[in-house]
Amino acid sequence: MSLKIESPKGKLGVLTPGMGAVSTTFIAGVEAVKKGLGEPVGSLTQLGTIRLGKRTDNRVPMIKDFVPLAGLKQLVFGGWDIFPDNAYEAARKAQVLNSDLLAKLKAPLQKISPMKAVFDPRYVRRIDGPNVKTKGSLKDKAEALIDDIAKFKKQNQCDRLVMVWCGSTEVFCEPAAVHQDLKAFEKGLAASDENIAPSQVYAYAALKSGVPFANGAPNLTLDVPALQALAKDRGVPVCGKDFKTGQTYMKTLISPGLKARMLGCSGWYSTNILGNRDGEVLDDPESFKTKEVSKLSVLDHILQPNLYPQLYKDLFHTVRINYYPPRGDAKEGWDNIDVFGWLGYPMQIKVNFLCRDSILAAPLVLDLVLLLDLAQRSGLKGIQEWLSFYFKSPMTAPGLYPEHDLFIQLIKLKNTLRWMKGEDMITHLGQEYYD
Ligand SMILES: NC(=O)c1ccc[n+]([C@@H]2O[C@H](COP(=O)([O-])OP(=O)(O)OC[C@H]3O[C@@H](n4cnc5c(N)ncnc54)[C@H](O)[C@@H]3O)[C@@H](O)[C@H]2O)c1
Repeated sequence: MSLKIESPKGKLGVLTPGMGAVSTTFIAGVEAVKKGLGEPVGSLTQLGTIRLGKRTDNRVPMIKDFVPLAGLKQLVFGGWDIFPDNAYEAARKAQVLNSDLLAKLKAPLQKISPMKAVFDPRYVRRIDGPNVKTKGSLKDKAEALIDDIAKFKKQNQCDRLVMVWCGSTEVFCEPAAVHQDLKAFEKGLAASDENIAPSQVYAYAALKSGVPFANGAPNLTLDVPALQALAKDRGVPVCGKDFKTGQTYMKTLISPGLKARMLGCSGWYSTNILGNRDGEVLDDPESFKTKEVSKLSVLDHILQPNLYPQLYKDLFHTVRINYYPPRGDAKEGWDNIDVFGWLGYPMQIKVNFLCRDSILAAPLVLDLVLLLDLAQRSGLKGIQEWLSFYFKSPMTAPGLYPEHDLFIQLIKLKNTLRWMKGEDMITHLGQEYYD
């Protein structure tokens, strides 16, 4: 039995609260691929394949041919930012893509001007800008966003929309009384409750409009009962949080390998230098704390010190981010990993990843847009755990621990696609080849 999947006809609008480095690198990248100026490297939906049936069956279609995804030509872009720069100017300022390439993309990028943002400087402290909605309560601002969404859809003649939070990392928050159910949340919006973050106003507006929402930052945003209930109630798929790109991506490659071989780990020291606007925001200790919690949780869940105390119970894990403007978006991440083997003999692994944050994040945004849209057309709603592959802190049902191992996440994602299409799940048992 396969799911009934609606066809991806018409235009798919992509809305990003936050039109900074990640968002503009993603938009410019899609425009570049459309013009044949580059390849969508890093995108599973564009370059990945999926094996179907037995290894001897030779059925390995491209993922994009196997499930009905929207094509790149069907995508149209919009968003909100506190700065009024259009996508061309914002991409130039972000300095991720070179000016030669951006000059060739000027026409489509210049057309995308950010709508006025819902912003609160208590939640993002290191930056401030003029392009913001100033009137009324949070309820009025949520309604203004719902209006923005409807206008964008109409003006661009979109069939469907997807929203991906590409805004700055907000300060660390924990769920409050106002987040416990939808009634309390809506009352809180009307009273402009200080516990409601701007990202939650966007998420609320998206869900109310029936628009799937992915959270690319580590903010609390959707991780509250009120918004999760709204997602289920409205039949909208959601996922998050915090794109798994540089250092954490490496961590989720290396740590499952250590555990697979029952090698111990006594220390993991991670530090980064980063000079873009994201780095500037993360220089604020409260925004960094949100990021730190997201980055730290990974090792505990993968290494399971409760199950393997002799290997991991004393693991000392530290993550640092240092704002260092000369590097811009070309971040450098160092890891010193103290491991031990047979009879406890110590060894070390050093990783020096000279990466480009937004170059790694852009293809994840693309995949999330296409797969969330697929989820919605397939009738899936609420938390989409199969999209954990893309996140540092995957959202799960309450009481369920997240799966962080990148390869288990990939199997889960591909098996979900097989399940959607009524194909056999692949267990990798393989006994049948020897019968
Ligand atoms: N690049 C990566 O590899 C990566 C990985 C994981 C998570 N992230 C997260 O993705 C987000 C975007 O990263 P970036 O490098 O593009 O940062 P950026 O600073 O270049 O862009 C963020 C943009 O959001 C805007 N903004 C802030 N609050 C807003 C609001 N309430 N409404 C609308 N706009 C708002 C800012 O003005 C800024 O232009 C950050 O939260 C970052 O931590 C990035």
